[in-house]
Amino acid sequence: MENHVYEWLNLTLRWIHMIVGIAWIGASFYFNWLENRLDRLSERAPGIAGQLWAVHGGGFYHLQKFEVAPPALPEHLHWFKWEAYTTWMSGTALLVVVYYLNARAFVVDPSKVELDAYMAIGVGVASIVASWIVYDLLCKSPLKNMPITLAIVIFVYFAALALALDLLLSSRAAYIHVGAAIGTVMVANVFFVIIPGQRELVDALKQNREPDPVPGRNALLRSRHNNYLTLPVLFIMISSHFPSTYGHAHGWAVLAALSAVGVAVRHYFNIRHVKPKAAWILAAAFAAMVAIMWYTAPERIDRGAAATVNEADAAVIVRERCTACHAAEPTQPGFASPPAGLSLEDMETVKTNAERIYMSTIATNTMPLGNLTGMTETERALLGLWLEQQIEASR
Ligand code: HEC
Repeated sequence: MENHVYEWLNLTLRWIHMIVGIAWIGASFYFNWLENRLDRLSERAPGIAGQLWAVHGGGFYHLQKFEVAPPALPEHLHWFKWEAYTTWMSGTALLVVVYYLNARAFVVDPSKVELDAYMAIGVGVASIVASWIVYDLLCKSPLKNMPITLAIVIFVYFAALALALDLLLSSRAAYIHVGAAIGTVMVANVFFVIIPGQRELVDALKQNREPDPVPGRNALLRSRHNNYLTLPVLFIMISSHFPSTYGHAHGWAVLAALSAVGVAVRHYFNIRHVKPKAAWILAAAFAAMVAIMWYTAPERIDRGAAATVNEADAAVIVRERCTACHAAEPTQPGFASPPAGLSLEDMETVKTNAERIYMSTIATNTMPLGNLTGMTETERALLGLWLEQQIEASR
């Protein structure tokens, strides 16, 4: 029953996280698009920087952007902040439910460092808090006047964080903590810098004075960072479905490369209205994806033609090391139903999923999860050999 409740808590939080995340990033994409597409040339009223006509949902919309601010503050002014805050709150709750409540399975990797569950959680939480402190100091340092250098330093920082976490925690937990750290930076930017910057504008208008330009300038820098960080974060949020990324021997480098692709694609969408020839960026991003796919391809280990493993031996390994979790009714505490919908109780299912199992258990060491079932290297090699035979036979 308890596990069933966790599963539904997971489901509910994930659903909420996705909805509010879409609302946040959707609004952010929309305003970026608006800013880029404003018609700043045709005739417009004094004090208006640009305008835009749109048709959507069966009606026409006419939007205007003011050069500075309207002469008087409107009665109803909409702010966009709760989308960000609720994304962070639901994400944090999800991190606790999915990872921290079962930290031994999801956060610790005893083949790297034998941390106990609380230590591992401590490392994770510290990585998130430290990231905001480091990032915020960097943005306040003299680097703030060198936006490109600052961006590179931030990128290198997160790549180094991915490397450090990958050495200490399970690869999957390393990825999700980089995602949580970047997401926290983005939300903290909204909370500590962007919203206060807007509040200064509104206060100045109310008090009939010139707004202090500094908060606005800082807010612009931070919102630019948020814009570029979006695509990497979205990848990390779906990465747990792709063991070939986080489970790779250099998972942190795969993450850095995919993030660079995300940043480049975002850049293309930021500039394409002024640089129509920038489409090469998309082509380069596509080429990079192919290169990363090639780089992460599982290597077949050459074990010589003589060795064979029979099905009965493979079945014993799967039964002992996998079916505690991958069964219709798992016996492993914390599991209510077979993870990934994969019950490995009969060998036919194992054969049909041979490639997937090879990827998670042989090419990468992401299964058994946290090696909770204590699979030995010999067993891994034997199972690998048998899986290779099945994959060959099915060709
Ligand atoms: C302690 C529990 C546990 C054990 C033991 C375990 N797994 Fe898993 N397995 C999981 C969980 C949890 C997931 C789901 C990961 C996710 O949410 O994407 C999973 C997912 C998988 C997937 C799907 C990965 C994908 O997305 O393609 C495969 C394949 C798999 N396991 C194979 C195995 C094999 C083979 C063994 C035994 C050698 C094993 N697992 C042992 C918990 C376990």
